[in-house]
Amino acid sequence: MFDLSPYDAIVFDLDGVIVSTDEQHYLAWKMIADDEGIPYSREINNRQRGVSRMESLDVLLEAAPKAYSQAEKNEMAFRKNEEYKRGISFLKPGDMLEGMPEILALLKEKGLKSAIASSSKNTNTILERLELSNWFDAVVSGSDIKASKPDPEVFSLAAQWLGLDPAKCLCVEDAKAGIESGRGAGMKTLGIGPSTRGISDFHFEETRDFALALGISLS
Ligand code: BG6
Ligand code: MG
Repeated sequence: MFDLSPYDAIVFDLDGVIVSTDEQHYLAWKMIADDEGIPYSREINNRQRGVSRMESLDVLLEAAPKAYSQAEKNEMAFRKNEEYKRGISFLKPGDMLEGMPEILALLKEKGLKSAIASSSKNTNTILERLELSNWFDAVVSGSDIKASKPDPEVFSLAAQWLGLDPAKCLCVEDAKAGIESGRGAGMKTLGIGPSTRGISDFHFEETRDFALALGISLS
């Protein structure tokens, strides 16, 4: 059983932890890469996890055969976000990752606080679509921070808004940059999926495995 007793709160990343919008990010960047003739892969996409939109674009452009002006970069980031927004426009509560609704309910039942710490400026839209706008005790998004993950700012701010010592918070992340961010803020870290294997304090391959370790029975 996973022991929650050391924590007063769990601070969740959003994309790839609560909901599989990480796949929509991948597809939208893939469209840009294909339009521009830039080689792109899942490995490159893994390096974009947790990283802000403009920094993600810089990761994509590392393999570009030509240089792009700032105006062109802004236009590409805009185009990517329009495609991404189309991709998430059909999101519904049932699209949460397996076991996540049960995990969120269990935390409330146990009296633990929960928060979101995301680099995404689409955070509020996603939470609305999942009908989670009023669920969390604190929501820190890409619009609230100056430096995106791996900088600790987003997790530090979440602990501050919760009014808690970061040492009493558990960071749950699917991104290497996110684990570094949570750890930098002084939290214990729990990684989900292949990008966080071997670098977090605790690790599960999927959210459903975390739910099972918490004693939740899933059908
Ligand atoms: C993070 C994603 O949650 O948000 C990144 O893991 C994404 O892939 C970042 O680049 C910024 O998202 P948005 O929605 O502001 O473009
Ligand atoms: Mg993520």
